Amino acid sequence: MAGNWKMYKTPADTHVFFERFKPLVEDVEHCEIVICPSFVDLHVAVKETGGTQIRIGAQNLYWGREGAVTGEVSGHMIHSAGCSHVIVGHSERRQFFNESEAEVLRKTIAALENSLTPIVCVGEKLAEREANMTEGVLVEQFVGGIGGLTSDQFAKILVAYEPVWAIGTGKTATPAIAADAHRVLRREAAIRFGVEAARNLRILYGGSVKPDNIAKLMAEEEIDGALVGGASLDPESFSKIVNF
Ligand code: 13P
Repeated sequence: MAGNWKMYKTPADTHVFFERFKPLVEDVEHCEIVICPSFVDLHVAVKETGGTQIRIGAQNLYWGREGAVTGEVSGHMIHSAGCSHVIVGHSERRQFFNESEAEVLRKTIAALENSLTPIVCVGEKLAEREANMTEGVLVEQFVGGIGGLTSDQFAKILVAYEPVWAIGTGKTATPAIAADAHRVLRREAAIRFGVEAARNLRILYGGSVKPDNIAKLMAEEEIDGALVGGASLDPESFSKIVNF
């Protein structure tokens, strides 16, 4: 169960969140918990979660190790800061910062080379769904992005299916719609990396996940977890999702 805080919360807010969140999930053993705050909050988040089972991730990375690249943060830096995960290719980065499949692949590889688990996001836009293009878009994103990994690399990533029309809109994909998309991704994984790798791949669903819809989503065999935006900002609501 992963939370993506996007561009919310200061270091002080991060401290308050974990003080309240930690006791609510201290007995959790049934899943991994990852929170992805903004870069400026990572230090506080790592410190607050030391000695707990909560893992911390960044929301983006640059593929180089270091250099004259103003404003960027490398996988090496993120790992050195105590993080274990990083989100790659979120639809907001694809939409607002023109991230391409080639960049998604480069960043995914850079994350792996720095011992970070990439959470690689894919998903179709509303117009693409309405034009019956969902499957084609997912296949294109898979082939152009993570399809370029080696089998060893592929075994170490998490994939998040986030239909763009369901992000922050309150419109959750029905469990059946989400499961269908996950099946497409797993089929592509099987074609490129084999049936065993496809079976082991963990695919998270993201898009308006809330405490009151998580149980139905997780009841789908195809859905292995969730990548939660808005509802991960509040300790009570995210703990309810974790404890679905
Ligand atoms: P919401 O849960 O706010 O719809 O955001 C989903 C998301 O983009 C997580 O990465």
